Amino acid sequence: MEIAVIGAGHVGLVCAACLAGIGHRVRVQDIDGDRVEELARGETPFLEPGLDELLGEGRKSGRLSFHTDPADALPDAKLIFICVPTWTNGDTADLSAVVAAASAVAKHAADDAVLVNRSTSPVGTLEYIRTLVEEERGSALDVVSNPEFLAEGTAVADFLAPYRIVIGAWEEWAVERLVEAYRPILDGLLPEPTRRWVKGREATRTIPVPLLITAPETAELTKYAANAFLAVKISFINEMATIADRFGADVDEVSTALGLDPRIGPHFLAAGLGWGGSCFPKDILVLKGMAETSGVSARILSAANEVNTDQRRWVVHKLRSNLKTLLGRRVALLGLSFKPNTDDIRNAPALEIADDLVRLNVHVRAFDPAVTRLPAPLDGSVEIAADPIAAATGADALVVATEWPQFADLPLAELRAVMRVPLLIDGRNCIDPDRARAAGFIYVGVGRGGGDVLPINGRASGAATGESRQDPASLTPMHPAMPAGRPTTDPAGAGR
Ligand code: UDX
Repeated sequence: MEIAVIGAGHVGLVCAACLAGIGHRVRVQDIDGDRVEELARGETPFLEPGLDELLGEGRKSGRLSFHTDPADALPDAKLIFICVPTWTNGDTADLSAVVAAASAVAKHAADDAVLVNRSTSPVGTLEYIRTLVEEERGSALDVVSNPEFLAEGTAVADFLAPYRIVIGAWEEWAVERLVEAYRPILDGLLPEPTRRWVKGREATRTIPVPLLITAPETAELTKYAANAFLAVKISFINEMATIADRFGADVDEVSTALGLDPRIGPHFLAAGLGWGGSCFPKDILVLKGMAETSGVSARILSAANEVNTDQRRWVVHKLRSNLKTLLGRRVALLGLSFKPNTDDIRNAPALEIADDLVRLNVHVRAFDPAVTRLPAPLDGSVEIAADPIAAATGADALVVATEWPQFADLPLAELRAVMRVPLLIDGRNCIDPDRARAAGFIYVGVGRGGGDVLPINGRASGAATGESRQDPASLTPMHPAMPAGRPTTDPAGAGR
């Protein structure tokens, strides 16, 4: 099928590369001439596993091309996907990019084309697009809403092996056109160049892929509801982490126990530094704004947002309580991207932490496997190191801000040896506390039992004593079958 994709960002490029991978001829259009040239030269503008390979195959097969002029990309297309950003003004969505794309469609689309909106937009946007297009063209065009559920780092697999496809539409035939394009995905019959990117999904996905045809408003709300629910789940576990800290409980074990209940499920229950990235922060605000302007008070969303804002302060709070004064301290920050396997730093907790620390006159040296440059003004105040050891040399604390898989195997003894104070603040609970303590670190995780305490004189000591922790032997069993306290393998007797 002839397809056009407007927008060569994260969603648009993954969408275009995957659609070309399953056999369609795809023209990508973007107003950013530099990006279009870069793509035409064979460069991939950001890190996304599988994308570079799929773009390469698409170019080689001649099924993928890149354009700046909508007149070159849109006229032959049977489906036109709008995948442009929706920015925000506080809690209001800024639809200017969506409106510009819809206007290009109005001018250049064929009469039998179907416009597919994949940009996350407030409820009612599809209706607005339909009206705009009709006014500009002088005739109607079929439009559908097809929200994307692509998470960075797994976006290619999310597109090719989705857990569901949601289509909001007024016209049945427009749905059929989109279903025809998605057929290999819906049936799980992917051609060879794409099949390899969904390995590992077999156990979790359903074939045929569940297809939900809804009213446009429902599809639009579903996207916000999905992201909001995941964000609430994360804020919930972060609140449990704060409670766990007070009582000497371990939130990771709480998560494991919760996740084994199929009504809850194991995903998005990892306590950490709070949610970031390009979607959750803005989607939660826009959904809240949408609700409030219609007279609904979105109390759960407000609370989730508040918990998230507090969670961003966790690192500075733990540094303060352990180092007492932060003036003139040196902090090694490991991880800058908002999550692993991406070089995306939009709303990354690490950047907010770096900014707070710099304002407090702390010297920050950072290392990230994929991010080697920071935007202004942080580029002038945060040093970028070539590796974790270089970042940690002379540091008073090592802060892990992103759970890159390789950080689980950090050479802890070597890091400890080059640091001034052996304090490890693990903002993602991705370091084994026993390994860290064995290497001589004072280990502080998120909700992992209050954390070790650095002695007042700041000297390194492996002896860890939780502020609120009771002697396990003094605890009275709640039930005869339950041993008093928790067995501990920690030589210092503190457990986790
Ligand atoms: C999200 C949605 O998952 C995706 O479906 C949507 O279309 C776009 O937004 P993304 O922003 O790429 O994707 O990241 P995601 O993996 O969802 O993580 C969001 C944030 O939550 C990250 O900051 C991550 O670190 C944090 N997170 C995630 C946690 O803190 N704990 C968890 O257990 C999971």
